[in-house]
Amino acid sequence: MQIDILTLFPQMFQSPLSAGIFKRAIERQLVTVNIHNIRDYTHDKHRTVDDYPYGGGAGMVLKPGPIFEVVESIKSDISLKQGADELPIILLTPQGRLFCQRIALELSKYSHLILICGHYEGVDERVHEYLATDEISIGDYVLSGGELAAMVVIDAVARLLPGVLGSEASLLDDSHTTGLLEYPQYTRPPVYRGWSVAEVLLSGNHAQIAKWRREQAVLRTLKRRPELLDKARLSLAERQLVDRLKQS
Ligand code: 6GU
Repeated sequence: MQIDILTLFPQMFQSPLSAGIFKRAIERQLVTVNIHNIRDYTHDKHRTVDDYPYGGGAGMVLKPGPIFEVVESIKSDISLKQGADELPIILLTPQGRLFCQRIALELSKYSHLILICGHYEGVDERVHEYLATDEISIGDYVLSGGELAAMVVIDAVARLLPGVLGSEASLLDDSHTTGLLEYPQYTRPPVYRGWSVAEVLLSGNHAQIAKWRREQAVLRTLKRRPELLDKARLSLAERQLVDRLKQS
């Protein structure tokens, strides 16, 4: 997957990309990340990326010109290789659709993503309207810029790409992949400061372990995020268990 990121703060991406999952994925050429400094696409002496809002008001607005030009230069590099119509151009903005595991999975199917990090009070509306094909927010709070949101999105997407994690099976049990929160995990020692690991996990009975984990996932979701159960795929017995517990 190729990921192009447009930002006013390229240096913010250096450490996240040079450690952990991204470092490995980039080394193995499973992911290519290109960071583009929007300021490099200005043409005036002061390299102006923002300006006062028409109509007045607080803060500055990102100018459309440099952002359109970065995207056009990225597209001109790839247009020979593949059609550009299948290329999501995602604006990170608190006004976007709320990011979730389903959207991460959806984005992981593309071979190329472009992410635009918004800043200041906002981005000129013509970027929203005529350039972005998608707008994403990572939650109902305001960040000072789209960079951290872009990192959240590319982390969640990259770990879904084949070969990146090295343990694809574990993806299937992830919190939110099943529509449920994940079951509790334990490792050695079996007793730590008097606190024991759930007995069944030491039993070697894999059917019993799977049953226990599923039950724990349902109970934990009911306790912490009950609204998730409305959309989760539960068996009839699980649905009945949830209904009974909700009553009591
Ligand atoms: Cl994508 N950008 C900003 N600035 N704030 C946010 C956000 C994005 N998602 C949640 N808050």
